[in-house]
Amino acid sequence: MTVQLTRRRALQLAALGAASAAAGGVGLWRSAAPRGELAVTDGGGDLRVPEILASEDGLLEVNLEAAAGVRLAGQDTSALGYNGTSPGPTWRLRPGDLLRVAVANRLDAPTNLHVHGLHVSPEGNSDNVFIEVLPGETFHYEYRLPDDHPTGTFWYHPHRHGLVADQVFGGLAGTIIVASDEAEAAFDEDRVLVVTDITLDAEGRVVRPSFQQRMMGREGRLVLVNGQFQPTLTGRRGARERWRVVNACTSRFLRLRLEDAELTVLGLDGHRVRPARQEDVLLAPGNRADLAVEAAAEGRYRLLAEPYDRGGMGMGPMMRGEQTASEPVPLAVLDVSAEAVSAPPLRWEAAQVEDLRAVAVDARRELRFEVGMGGGGMRFLIDGREFDPDRVDTEVRMGAVEEWVLRNPSPMDHPFHLHVWPIQVLDKGTGPVSEPQWRDVINIPAGRAVRVRVRFADFGGRTVYHCHILDHEDQGMMGIVVAS
Ligand code: C2O
Ligand code: CU
Repeated sequence: MTVQLTRRRALQLAALGAASAAAGGVGLWRSAAPRGELAVTDGGGDLRVPEILASEDGLLEVNLEAAAGVRLAGQDTSALGYNGTSPGPTWRLRPGDLLRVAVANRLDAPTNLHVHGLHVSPEGNSDNVFIEVLPGETFHYEYRLPDDHPTGTFWYHPHRHGLVADQVFGGLAGTIIVASDEAEAAFDEDRVLVVTDITLDAEGRVVRPSFQQRMMGREGRLVLVNGQFQPTLTGRRGARERWRVVNACTSRFLRLRLEDAELTVLGLDGHRVRPARQEDVLLAPGNRADLAVEAAAEGRYRLLAEPYDRGGMGMGPMMRGEQTASEPVPLAVLDVSAEAVSAPPLRWEAAQVEDLRAVAVDARRELRFEVGMGGGGMRFLIDGREFDPDRVDTEVRMGAVEEWVLRNPSPMDHPFHLHVWPIQVLDKGTGPVSEPQWRDVINIPAGRAVRVRVRFADFGGRTVYHCHILDHEDQGMMGIVVAS
């Protein structure tokens, strides 16, 4: 028996938690006692660029070894990495390419691989999240990108249900760039910025989250860019840079802002958009933004993650714990020299995509993302059910266009992610959008509903949708969709 958790119910529970804490009880909600923390030694250092592996003649073949033991924030740690680094190498592909990845599991737990956002088959040894790679084993994945694959920034990470949050929080993530000459404009710099967060103790061991942190979705105390603490990007006055920002955090939302400068959004989740100057850009966990950055004057510009309220189990700071920072978090510094260059005018075109608003809908559905109480703990549910690998939740017809209303009656945000097929957003919970917006992760704000359309084209098979707060996914907020 599960009781749905609403804000009112959460407040009652908060009061209960407060009472038990006051009475000296262990208190369900108390976070783990703070321990010694890792001393950061690389603050302000030059930005490290993950190794780039590019396809040749239509093929990229890579080895990907997952193992503990990487340098983070300038220290040796027992965090996790791919091929010895966190983030792992950047793969550079072109539409139509074949990608082969041999995943070697040197962890002490099962793992697997998901190519997040790629429009590829979910079957066989392609983007099949039901595969399990056991410790000591190697599995050979193979992905064929369509010739008209969108160009932009994607990423890869493990997807073994139940262990996803631990492994991504541990450091397992890497960037995938899909680029084609025709679609690319010239930039003075093309940088990958993978944002991760992690909590490490004084010995460099990953700190396990408390019960409350797992409920809310854990956020690490260290926020890193390419595995570094607040690195410096050296830029030139008048130059135009392209930044590919990946939010690879387990649960943390990033409301990006570059102090005293504007960001121009060029793409979101690997879909080129009409360039739009923005004060800030909100990335839910899993989202990516391709940004153009220009600094007109010499100086140091801080890239910040501004506070974002993603709701919670109640309203008091005790219930929030350390989550949902109320201060801006500095991510990096762009240090612009006096030496000037002049960038040519930006030539950039939005991707030509089908506007599904004008299309007849074959089926309509509603999915409810709920947080409940039951079985002695919290439960994370879609349509009242926890994930079951043996159950098909949603059957769709190949080629069909469906309209889904995603409802979130719970007191916290849930970023919705669908594998394989891109999502066209019609309403983000604040009213209809004015032009087509494509995403592979769309946040469903607490207490709101989001409306989307999807065309289930090109690839059939069995795959998943889920909340990209990976602690919620691991605790059951995932469903299976089959297209046939
Ligand atoms: Cu980035 Cu199913 O996940
Ligand atoms: Cu969630």
